[in-house]
Order: sequence, then structure tokens, then C-alpha cells
Amino acid sequence: MDNYEIIETLGYGAFSTVYLVKDKISNKLYSMKKIPKHKDPNIHIKTTNQINIGLYLNQNGYDNYIDHYVTETHYYLIFKYLQGSDLFTYQPKITHNNMFDIFIQMAEELQKLHSLKIVHNDIKPENIMLMVNGKIQFIDFELSRTPDVNISQKYEIRLSNEQDVSGSIYYISPEKYQKKTSDFYKSDIYSLGSTYYALIMADFPYQSNDKLKYDTVYLHNLSDPNIVPKPFDQYIPLSLEQLIYQMLDKNYQNRPTLDEIISHLSKFTSSLNQMLNKLSITDT
Ligand SMILES: Nc1ncnc2c1ncn2[C@@H]1O[C@H](COP(=O)(O)OP(=O)(O)OP(=O)(O)O)[C@@H](O)[C@H]1O
Ligand SMILES: [Mg+2]
Repeated sequence: MDNYEIIETLGYGAFSTVYLVKDKISNKLYSMKKIPKHKDPNIHIKTTNQINIGLYLNQNGYDNYIDHYVTETHYYLIFKYLQGSDLFTYQPKITHNNMFDIFIQMAEELQKLHSLKIVHNDIKPENIMLMVNGKIQFIDFELSRTPDVNISQKYEIRLSNEQDVSGSIYYISPEKYQKKTSDFYKSDIYSLGSTYYALIMADFPYQSNDKLKYDTVYLHNLSDPNIVPKPFDQYIPLSLEQLIYQMLDKNYQNRPTLDEIISHLSKFTSSLNQMLNKLSITDT
């Protein structure tokens, strides 16, 4: 660990801090996630899980994780440096011109994870990187799990469990919140829908005016299927609006598959381009 020099802070999370670091010998840049041991009683399980998922993904063409170090007080996880911006930071720069490409890539990346039988479990703008080369990559696999018993045993990755309610309250699916998840992948699709919504609106689909009452409002939303997400207050194509509402359907069985999402979004791209060309509208 002493062979890394800290250059700057890349981000802060609930527990950890992520730094841009330089390998003193090779001069190569990496990202280093520093996780204190004392703040979270489950930190050992979560960190081991994050490392094992990193190793498993690396072996299967989704590489990001590099190495880790453990001291008395901290874990240090070394990842590839993904030069760019997480989507929370990038949100104000999202326009009709770049939105569809970003959304399609997000769905494609999630499809890669799902085909490797990994449920991300914490999809939100902060955990998705848009790199300077225009590519999207998911990060932060601390809460991720697999519903596949063989993968879970072989790679020591935590098994998906309907009792697991981890994830950000603003993006978590209703069934997960109620500990009734039966299709873990569809729960990720709900979070992807919430993320699309947040990236367009810079706001969450459901929100209380009083943040402390968010849970109550959220449960209220769950109990009444007639309460739908807040309407979009800016122009987006109706079919995109419908797609996002479908992804946010309270019944997981009504949510579209990733194939359907990708094919819908691809159609919008071509029709929107045609429309923008006709109207000569240019986004800045
Ligand atoms: N490999 C990376 N390259 C560049 N920036 C990164 C990388 N990994 C993380 N970041 C930045 O650091 C932020 C926090 O990273 P990450 O989501 O992995 O940890 P975290 O949210 O702090 O974890 P937790 O909340 O579980 O403690 C990200 O939102 C992103 O801005
Ligand atoms: Mg994070």
C-alpha cells in the first residue's frame, strides 16, 4: 500500500473514501477505496463479497478490481482508474443528444452483469461511471449478490436472499423494501428505471417534502397502486416516459426485460434524431 501515492479524492460514500492514486514504481494511476473497519459491523462480509465479486467479474471479462490490502484499521481496495465522471456528478450535462446512448449503455452493462448472474443491488447514478471515452461502467459491488448457488459457493459471493433490503432507499424496488423479492434481476430493473428517472428529472420518482417522513410516504406509495411516480415536468418522448413507468411498475412481473428496454431505446434514438433534424433543434 505504501507503494501508492494519493493524488486526489475521487468520491465519498457512506463509509468509504475513494482516492486517485499513483503507483510509485510504474507511475500508473489507480483508484483506491479506503474502508474503515470500525464503522459497520458487517464490513468484513461486505468487503470480502466486494473483493470476490471483483475477482469473479475479472475472470469473466468485466474487469475493474485489481488488488486489496488489509491493515488493523482499514481495507484498501485497488481498482482500475475509470477516468471520467459518475452519473450523479454528470447529471446536469445530460441532454436529449447524449441521454439515449447513456441509457442504452447502462442497460447493456446491466445485461452483462445479469448474464454473469450478478445482481448489482445498488444501482444509482453515483455507482455508474461515464468515462472520457464515452463508455459506461458499473462500480461499487459491495451490496451485489448472486441468485446462483453454484457461483455463490465457488466464488464465495453472497447469495441473493429475499430478506436482503440493502440499497439506497430512493432506488430500491417496492418488493425488496417489503422483503418479498422473488425475481432479484427485476429488482435491479426497477432501480435502473429510478436511475433513468433521476437522470432526467434531477429528482426521485417519489419524494416527501419532509425527508424524515420519506419511509412513510414510500410505504403509502407501495400500498396504493394508483399512486404513480411524479409526472415528468419537461419534454421527453411519450414512449420513453411509458418505458420508465413500466420499469417502475410496482408489480415486478410487469417490468420489461433488458432486451426490451434496449430495443425500445434504440428505436427512440433513430426517431428522435430524425425529429431533431427536422426541427433543427440542437442541444448544448
Ligand atoms: N474506479 C474508479 N475510478 C474513478 N472514480 C471512482 C472509481 N470508483 C469509485 N469512484 C468514485 O468514487 C465514488 C464512490 O465510490 P464507490 O461507489 O465505489 O464507493 P462508496 O459509495 O463510497 O461505497 P459505500 O457507500 O458502500 O461506502 C463514486 O461515486 C465515483 O465518483
Ligand atoms: Mg457508491
